Amino acid sequence: MADTEEPDRALQRSLSALDLTVFGVGVIIGTGIFVLTGTVARDQAGPATALAFLAAGVVCALAALCYAEFASTVPVAGSAYTFSYASLGELPAWLIGWDLMLEFALGTAVVAVGWSGYVRSLLDNAGWHLPDALAGPEAADGVGFDLLAFLLVLALTGILVLGVKLSARVTALVVAVKVTVVLLVIVAGAFLVQAGNYDPFIPPARGSLSGSGVHAPLIQLIAGYRPTTFGVQGVFTAAAVVFFAFIGFDIVATAAEETRRPQRDVPRGILGSLLVCTALYVAVSLVVTGMRHYTELTVDAPLADAFKATGHPGFAGLISFGAAVGLTSVCMILLLGQTRVLFAMSRDGLLPRVFSKVHPHYATPYRSTVLLGAVTAVVSGFTTVSQLAELVNIGTLFAFVVVAAGVVVLRRTRPDLHRTFRAPWVPVLPAASVAASLWLMLNLPAQTWLRFAAWMAAGLVVYGLYGRTHSRMSPTTRL
Ligand code: ALA
Repeated sequence: MADTEEPDRALQRSLSALDLTVFGVGVIIGTGIFVLTGTVARDQAGPATALAFLAAGVVCALAALCYAEFASTVPVAGSAYTFSYASLGELPAWLIGWDLMLEFALGTAVVAVGWSGYVRSLLDNAGWHLPDALAGPEAADGVGFDLLAFLLVLALTGILVLGVKLSARVTALVVAVKVTVVLLVIVAGAFLVQAGNYDPFIPPARGSLSGSGVHAPLIQLIAGYRPTTFGVQGVFTAAAVVFFAFIGFDIVATAAEETRRPQRDVPRGILGSLLVCTALYVAVSLVVTGMRHYTELTVDAPLADAFKATGHPGFAGLISFGAAVGLTSVCMILLLGQTRVLFAMSRDGLLPRVFSKVHPHYATPYRSTVLLGAVTAVVSGFTTVSQLAELVNIGTLFAFVVVAAGVVVLRRTRPDLHRTFRAPWVPVLPAASVAASLWLMLNLPAQTWLRFAAWMAAGLVVYGLYGRTHSRMSPTTRL
């Protein structure tokens, strides 16, 4: 924490609890609810998608209480990375930082691609059709470049370099549009619900076509089941996927160093935004699966299409517009979280120190922002949404496990530290958080586990070759 007081490496303290909640809601509501709801309802859980959201929400609430305690104990940039540095040591911290870069970079890319899809659909409505080669790899059926996603990430990078205060203001406006649209879906949709669509609420389990081998959830392979979808297991598979819709509340903690009263406001910001979003998700998924039979939901723009199919194209247009606007803020905050993790890792010397210089005028870590913005923009140009979301989820859940374990470790090793927010029922609650996060991880496909292992192994190599010897904590660097 003393390091954060070096004047040319410190961020401005300008955010309040409300700013943080808006930040949280700004990043939490996004591709998860606007896009994944349809996929999951159709392929995994039917109307019980609402239960999947609830299950994922509970997992996040447990993790949020642990995050809140950590954030109020170690209120500096970098979120889980900093927390684990303080409690578990350098190597676990490196692994978490490396892991968070995966979460944020791929998360930004996934959302940028989702945004580009909605914008293209709006452009199509207006009669402008972008050439397939510029509409991303999926539309081009092979070699394509998603120009809109690429441009979005570049534009957001520019905004972030100009300063957090400006970004927070832009975010507040965008969040207002997004929440209005979500409420519109809930209120207008409630009148179009047909009770018959809820029957059966949990569709019976059936064998999965694509869900064999590495595509099957790891837990089903371990337990030796024939891979299935729907049924009670389907609800958990769905929960592991829609978990993506909650990613972002942890980013509120990454802004702790820029918060005026972090000890009090960070826990409020995290828990507040999580509560709002869980309520909205459950309501939206109930309404959408009530309006349309789950087998008839579309996967690209399920919320808008449900209104189109029930004869309300006007609402559908509004929802598409709101989704496009809303996904912008998600993308921006994921990008912000990512640059702050790189900033913190560089300040500690685990990555080159040049990335932790803040801009003399804007007081933002502009070098890390520009570097990551450029890389993410290129990645989003060549990315498809499918499967990347699952990789983001496994990385995030892994971070939750480490943070929850860290709460217990830090209570033992540093009982003296002042904690404005203390998580209740320690160590039972952190233990439950670890178990719940692991359970969702086990419900992700085996293939996702393999990809995650490959990324983490690469991280260990980079740490061995650079971070270990350049760390500010390393004896050679301190001399
Ligand atoms: N929670 C964010 C979303 O749903 C990442 O897009």
